[in-house]
Amino acid sequence: MPPTAPPTAPPERRLLPDTADVAPSGHLSVGGCDLLDLAREHGTPLFVYDEAHLRARCREAVAAWGDGVAYATKAFLCRAMARLAHEEGMCLDVSTGGELHVALAAGVPPERLVLHGNNKSDAELARALEVGVGRIVVDSFDEIARIGRLTERPTERPTDRPGGVAPGRGAARPKVLVRVTPGVEVHTHEFVRTGQEDSKFGFSVASGAAAQAVAALELLPGVELVGVHAHIGSQVFDVGHFEEAAEVLGGFFAPLGLPELVVGGGLGVAYVNSEQAPSQSEWAAAAREACARTGVDSSARITAEPGRSIVAGAALTLYRVGTIKVLPGIRTYVAVDGGMSDNPRPVLYGSGYEAFLPREPDAPRRLRARVVGKHCETGDVLVAEACLPSDLAVGDVLATPVTGAYGYSMASNYNKVPRPPVVFVADGAARVVVRGETLDDLLRLDT
Ligand code: LLP
Repeated sequence: MPPTAPPTAPPERRLLPDTADVAPSGHLSVGGCDLLDLAREHGTPLFVYDEAHLRARCREAVAAWGDGVAYATKAFLCRAMARLAHEEGMCLDVSTGGELHVALAAGVPPERLVLHGNNKSDAELARALEVGVGRIVVDSFDEIARIGRLTERPTERPTDRPGGVAPGRGAARPKVLVRVTPGVEVHTHEFVRTGQEDSKFGFSVASGAAAQAVAALELLPGVELVGVHAHIGSQVFDVGHFEEAAEVLGGFFAPLGLPELVVGGGLGVAYVNSEQAPSQSEWAAAAREACARTGVDSSARITAEPGRSIVAGAALTLYRVGTIKVLPGIRTYVAVDGGMSDNPRPVLYGSGYEAFLPREPDAPRRLRARVVGKHCETGDVLVAEACLPSDLAVGDVLATPVTGAYGYSMASNYNKVPRPPVVFVADGAARVVVRGETLDDLLRLDT
């Protein structure tokens, strides 16, 4: 392990988007765009995604896992992102009818989509079957019954599937996987652990529920059972956990003689200088070796569905400092113009972030302060123990790196704060992929 930098050191380059560079002005640029210019042009807060970084991570995932690897869209989704992941050869994991709708609206072919969800509604399943999604990952006995009903009876409604063929009436049988819980507890926040026995997701391998689900799906004439799926949790740093899960999974999967095994997502990313994360290829190698040890046939398609590791490091959020409050003997509060509505992760999971000033990204950070938002509660913290340059002043643009995953996707309108715009930057140009909300947008659902 490399030595850990002192907290006053600037954020390490590996936490910044791939194309981050210090321009001759001394300011940080990403994708050839000066971050201070972007803040001026688009306002703050602003999510800035490095398009080259996104594409590189998608390619890395495809190289590590091969065809079928899916981008978990819950991490960040808009039409531009869906198109980008598709263009780079990834399938897309959608976990609700809403994510399905956005991916389809982006023009991603339905056969490249994988539908997840622990409580899929009739409407969500019917839509997935009508459009012909590539895979459905089945999560409960109720869902098996629901899919059974939906695939046995021809739907009475006209279908929008090209050619008007409804499943069960001559269309290819939908391919399904069964989601299992391997009974592995990973060391991550309890809210994002999913592989343990006590979970709302999947069927337990240990209890025999997973074997029952396989038997039930094999009896359904309207579907084709193609594989097994598991997801042990998110922000996992230790590849040993993936190996452990893959061993349980492999042991369950190998005797079934099915062609596909999906090991889920969950690869951790470094958010702060003190963290180190494994790469996609280290993760894939560990999972594959563990599967091979348990007798999984080399012809089986072993894939994954990374979300965070594709998008987290690609983005940073720009804020403007509005007030600085020095409480002698207590602490200094630096308040910015966003907060828990654009990044709820610190308050939800106690997640750490770095903060720096793009006007001088390599400046030492000797000021200890708490970076907070503009929401009406004390929990509205972005960086609880931030280190910032001592000459920080009201009006400065402040950046938090590694905000590309589960930031915008979990953003809200709390306190009626409009959600910020999202730009993709590449080759010196920025394109708005999600416009910022206006005050009138805040009224659009009122009746
Ligand atoms: N596959 C399944 C079935 C999942 O449930 C998830 C994430 C993924 C893949 C992608 O996992 P990733 O590679 O992004 O770790 N809001 C939390 C994370 C929740 C993750 C939920 N499921 C956070 O901000 O940390």
